[in-house]
Amino acid sequence: MLRSKKIASLLVLSLLPSLKSSSVHAQTTTDNVLNPVAVVPKADDAISQARLRALALFRALTGVPLPIDDDRLVQMEAAISAGRERDAAKIATSDPLFYDVRVRDMARKMSTRDESVRAPLSDFVATFVGVVRDSDSTSAKELLTGNFTYRGKAGLTQANGQPVRQDLLNDFLNSNNHYNDLANPANKFSLMKVLEKSPIQKVVMSNANTVPVDHPDPAGLITTRAFMEAHAIAGTNRRLVEFSFRQFMCQPITQWADASAPDDRVGRDVDRAPGGSPNKFMVTCKACHGQMDGLRGAFAMVDFNGNQVRYQTGTNPVGKMNRNADVFPEGFQMRDNTFVNYATEGKNRDEFGWRSDLQGKGMKEFAAMIANSQGFSRCLVRRVFSNVCKRDAGADEEGLIRAIANDFEAGNYHLRNLFETVALRPECVGTK
Ligand code: HEC
Repeated sequence: MLRSKKIASLLVLSLLPSLKSSSVHAQTTTDNVLNPVAVVPKADDAISQARLRALALFRALTGVPLPIDDDRLVQMEAAISAGRERDAAKIATSDPLFYDVRVRDMARKMSTRDESVRAPLSDFVATFVGVVRDSDSTSAKELLTGNFTYRGKAGLTQANGQPVRQDLLNDFLNSNNHYNDLANPANKFSLMKVLEKSPIQKVVMSNANTVPVDHPDPAGLITTRAFMEAHAIAGTNRRLVEFSFRQFMCQPITQWADASAPDDRVGRDVDRAPGGSPNKFMVTCKACHGQMDGLRGAFAMVDFNGNQVRYQTGTNPVGKMNRNADVFPEGFQMRDNTFVNYATEGKNRDEFGWRSDLQGKGMKEFAAMIANSQGFSRCLVRRVFSNVCKRDAGADEEGLIRAIANDFEAGNYHLRNLFETVALRPECVGTK
């Protein structure tokens, strides 16, 4: 039989840094702080299997271990012993650590080009965390279709006595100041507690870049400043297509490339005979560009320039959509923000499971097409699985992923429930 003394002291050791910081902010008096309660373990109590299960479940769902005698584990143990595992998981998912560590870090990895967990807190990350917190009233589809972002509530004060910066133009549209203040460790804000939904996304127009207006074409996370900064800066807006599929369909472009797709939308900047070889175009370039360039029109009107997202005034696409036209003048000339989805054949048909129109206009319709697909819900399941279970689902687990995705859809795309469902699966070995 395991004795708690040994285990408890091990856990306390691994927790020392957080114990230290919690004792620091225990002295601050606001309701907004992240404040894990650490209880000194009692020696010599036997540890039940249910308590160990509670610990593993809490750790999987929050990314943070607790001392074995922590109150939350005691409550979870009671629920587990009574056969109410879901209730035990809910104790973990209603804890600030779930939002402030697990969900935040999952979103960070989706928010930038290098997909680093060290990515800054941003409008992308805050909006993802907010949608998970507000799952009871917000479907995960709104991650892509929502006309809102999440931000810190008004009137927050930093540890240094200064207000959290929140000027719409200076601190949201032209910089990440607001989120940097929220994330500053000295301030010890809990995202779970301070985030607030801010309806209507804002942007500036290319001819009036100091005047915020309602975004003409909002598309949830895709039109956040962070996602645009990562993928609309320089380049030809193709990366916006590439990374939309990468983050929200879990498909790197090499995986959905298909040389049999039509090439009538491929831009004029793409050489049709690279190195003098038309065949090379047919078998390599076209495999990516046929589909990607067909979808790229959705992003015809946006650019990230001078630290801000700018929406193009008038009806002509931004200059970079038609640049280097002399490479192949017979190629597709972009005249508006229409797009066509050619990622519909062969294995792509099954992987993506499209369920709406395969053509449209602008980012909002592009994002809705993704949100309505089977590929999107399966991707969320896969992402939750790899974050919570600490391994990617295997190729032989595709049936499991799809079954969970179907339940997730039937339950109105409730993200917090999805985290619990996945953590409770026997395949999620981290919780065993
Ligand atoms: C594996 C997929 C893939 C293949 C194959 C591919 N491309 Fe691309 N191409 C991309 C992506 C993604 C971008 C956008 C890159 C970025 O902006 O970071 C791009 C961008 C471009 C650009 C615009 C560069 C710029 O920023 O001005 C040109 C031109 C281009 N590709 C030509 C080609 C040619 C010619 C071939 C064949 C020799 C080819 N590509 C093969 C995926 C691919």
